[in-house]
Order: sequence, then structure tokens, then C-alpha cells
Amino acid sequence: MATASGTPGTSPSLEKTARSISLRRGARSTLRPLSAVVLLTFVICHLTNHSLLLVSVALANAGHRWLIDPWRTDAGSAVLLTAALVHYGNALWSIYVRRHLRLSRWEWAQLLLGLSIPPLLMMHVTGTRFAEALLQANNDYTSVLLTQWVLVPQLAVVQVAAVLTVWLHAGIGLHFWLRTKPWYAAASRYILALELVIPVLALAGYVAGGNQMLREAEAPGYVSAILEDANISPATLSQIHGFAITGWSLHLGLLVLTMAARGARRLTQRFRKPAMLSHPSGKVVPIAPGATVLETLREHGIRHASVCGGRARCTTCRVQVTRGLERLHKPTRAEVAALARIQALPGMRLACQIRPDAELSILPLLPADAPPADGGIRGGLAGSEQPITVVFVDMRGSTAMAELRLPYDVLFILNQFFQEMTSALRATNGHYSQFTGDGLMAIYGLRDKDPARSTGDALRGAREMLNRVDRLNQRLRGELTQPLRIGIGIHFGEAIVGSMGPPGSRIVSAIGDTVNTAARLESLTKEFNCLLILSQQAAQAAGLDVAGHAIHETAIRGRTQNLEFYAFDAIPDIPAARALAAN
Ligand code: FES
Repeated sequence: MATASGTPGTSPSLEKTARSISLRRGARSTLRPLSAVVLLTFVICHLTNHSLLLVSVALANAGHRWLIDPWRTDAGSAVLLTAALVHYGNALWSIYVRRHLRLSRWEWAQLLLGLSIPPLLMMHVTGTRFAEALLQANNDYTSVLLTQWVLVPQLAVVQVAAVLTVWLHAGIGLHFWLRTKPWYAAASRYILALELVIPVLALAGYVAGGNQMLREAEAPGYVSAILEDANISPATLSQIHGFAITGWSLHLGLLVLTMAARGARRLTQRFRKPAMLSHPSGKVVPIAPGATVLETLREHGIRHASVCGGRARCTTCRVQVTRGLERLHKPTRAEVAALARIQALPGMRLACQIRPDAELSILPLLPADAPPADGGIRGGLAGSEQPITVVFVDMRGSTAMAELRLPYDVLFILNQFFQEMTSALRATNGHYSQFTGDGLMAIYGLRDKDPARSTGDALRGAREMLNRVDRLNQRLRGELTQPLRIGIGIHFGEAIVGSMGPPGSRIVSAIGDTVNTAARLESLTKEFNCLLILSQQAAQAAGLDVAGHAIHETAIRGRTQNLEFYAFDAIPDIPAARALAAN
């Protein structure tokens, strides 16, 4: 069993296995898109070259020098061949490694189109690159078009099918890769336009070039002269056909071998007792050895979000592991990066990346029909009640400032202010939660639920904010008629914490009495004309020495008891031991 590094009782050899699996998956997730990008670049060059046929075959032959010949150098060939082998090998591996083939429609389309490309392109590749390398053929657009449009016209149909297949395969791959990027929605119409223009021009060029060949082939002696120039004889054509048959057989053989390997694996695993996966729907289902959680859920008809098709890109498949986390393998580099991007909380993993081999319980964190935009949601808590420290910060006098200044100046100052406030939060384990016009709400204790720690961090955060406002005042001396001032309210208590907000703009935030109370405390700083108001609960949780400080109380709407609090003109000192621990 592969376990997390450092787990007591883990043997070094198992740790090594877990590490090597993790590395292999990490390398795959890097090589797969890299090989796709290389192949796509080559295809775009090739199709652009075809579009020159709209002008003339001679121009396409001239363009070949710039668009295709670089790929024919030793280095270019090595890069292209490696990318093709990696991409092809990855496709076969992904068929083998999947524990079941319940794929979504677009995944099926992507896979089947991809597998059709080698047979469709086989005659073209053997007739050009292989024939040039092994049979000393000397191809250019003239000889290739002549072969495909005059000598073996069926090849022209195959060629058109190949172009469409390659382009659709690339288009689907590109769409499902990029649709998780925030900028994609705005750019997609331009990308789609390019995706239409490139093949349409290429195919129009191909037809125009073919027609030119059909016309020129009518001239006596033209065909034989071209074939002689290209060093292509009937014997050469038959050898090219032989190469293609070998290629087709190899492709078919590898596919059969891959499916046979899947069958063999199934047979050997048949008698093993599978680990079980518990889902909050109440279903407990067996996990096939080596299957991911996502595959397991799909196999048993449990719907689960997966925008990127299991490639560790979208994070919509994220789950909270509620039991068995310590027995899971370490996350791969791709999973670590994806989780870091969404500021995942402890216990969160990607269902498409974890392959449990021991009992596991999970809680899906996004709805099964989560759209791509939901991949950008930070955290992803499904909603839970937990003790947190809530901080409200407000910029004093912002209304007067807005009346006296141009909107541009107000925005400039506000943005500088927010930048400093969020930097203060980042530096003290705080979590930016909401924008409140001229202030913000922050949460402490999302990860570390220790009350002393979260309230101590909140006080450190308040001090950091104050320091940063002082520095900002220095920087903006010339811009401000009077220095910026802030009021801070801090309260500690239970709140409902989770990912909330309208679709596409959800963030991890909190609601409940604790939040309302903290907001009320912040507003009281105006009445008390002070910097900070701290609830008695927060002061107690932080272990503050409040001897000598007057305690006040106020009514809070919805509460039967008054709330006790302290008002401060400076940030109180955090007890030494706590401050040390926090640092
Ligand atoms: S399905 Fe996209 S990251 Fe798991």
C-alpha cells in the first residue's frame, strides 16, 4: 500500500513506490500537453502551407521552405517524432490505465478521433517522409497532389478526412484544456474563428491545388515527368503501400495488446478483496485496484463533477477526505499545483488523482454539474460550522474623500489601501472573505481551529494593517488632505463557513451571528472614536491581559444578552507565548 510520506509504520520500499508513481504521473501530466502543443504547432504550419495552394502550387512549394522544412531538419524531426510518440503512447497508456471506459461523450469523441488519426495519415506519412528517407523519393506539393488527385484519387478523400479528424481532435483537446482558464470565455470566440479559418483555407487550398493538378495532368508527358523528378515509380508506390500496411498492422496490434493487457489485469485482480469507498449519498462501493475515486464513482453511476476529464486541471472534482486520508499516496506535482491554486484546506484532494487501496470516505465539495468557472472557487467547503475569528476593517472618512476627489483618485487610493490590507492578511494567516465597499471582512482560523491561535493571528493582522496604513500615509502624503484611518472590529465564535456566492464568483466566507457581531463591533469604533473594538470572547480566547481596561456592553440585534467588549486606541499586546507560537 502506498502511504503518505512520513506515516508511522510505512516501509521504505512502499514509500519509494509511492514516490515513483507520483513522479510518473507528474511527468505524464507535463509531457501530455507539451507533446500536444508541438503537434498542434506542426499541424498549423502544415495547414497554413496548404492554404497557399489557393494562389498556386508553386507558391505552396516556396512556402514549404519556411513552414515545413524546419520540421525536416534533424532537430525538427527529433522534436516532432518524440512528440508524436509521446502523444500516441500516452493515448494507449490512458486506455490501459483506466479501470473502466465509462467516458463522457466528448472524451469518447476525443479518444476515437485520436485513434483514427494514425490509420488516416499512414499513407500520407509513408508516401512522404518514409519514401524520402528510405526510397530516395523527392516529394513536393506537385508530386504529392498528383499522386493523391490523379493517380490514386481515393487518397484525396482520405486526406480530407484526415485533416478534419486531426483538427477536430485538436479543437476538442484545446477547448477542454483552456476552458478552465479565466480568460478563455472572453477569448473563445477569437479562438473559434481561428479554428474555422485555418482548416477552411487549408481545405480550399487543397482542392484548388488538386484541380490545378487535374488540369495540368492532361498535358502529354506531364505525369511521367513529375514522377521521374520525384523519383517515384510503380515499384516505389507499391513499397509505400507495403510500409502503410505495416504501420496499420502495428497500430492495430498495439491497440489489441492494450486491450489484452486490460483484460489480463482484470483477471488477476478478480479474486482480490477490494477496498471500499463511502459516499455521502449512503452508497458504499468497491474500488477496483488502481482506479481513481472519480472512475470508481462513475463506474457505479454516482455523478461527480469533472470539467477537465481527470487531468488535474479544473479542480471541480475536489473532495474532502473524511476518512482514510493518511493511507492515500502523496499528491502528484500536478495535484499539488492545482490544490495550491484554490488554496485547498487540509484533507482536500482531487477525486481524479487519488487511487485508494484502502477504505476511504469522501465528501464532494462542488455539485456534480459544476461549470468550468467553479474550478476557480477557492477552498470549496461544502459548509460546516466551526469556531473562527472574524475581523471587519473599515476606512474612516472615505465618503468625504469621495466627495472631494475625482473618481480616478478615489479608486487609486482605495486600491492601494486594499492591497495593503490583503498583504497584512496574507502575512498573518488571514483569509480575505468579503469586500464591503470601503472596507473588508476577513476570517482567521480557517485551517487552524485553535481559538488562541486564530484570535492571536487576528490581533497580529490588525497590528500589521495599522503599520501598513501608516506606511501608506507616508507614501501618499502629497495626495491626502488628511491621513487615512481605520476602525477594526474583532469577534470570536461559531459560524457557518463554506464556499458561497453567485455561480462563478463564489468565495470561502462565513455567515451567522459571529459575523454580524464583528460587523457591529467595527461600527462601534466610530461611536467610541477608537481604533479597535474586541469582543470579550475574542479577548479571552487570545488570553489578553485586560486588567485596567473598561468593559463595555451593547445590545446586538437578535441576541437576548448584551455583548461585552473592550475599546482600544492601540493594538493590545498579545501574550508573549502566543506571539512566539504564531511566529
Ligand atoms: S476532473 Fe478536473 S481536476 Fe479532477
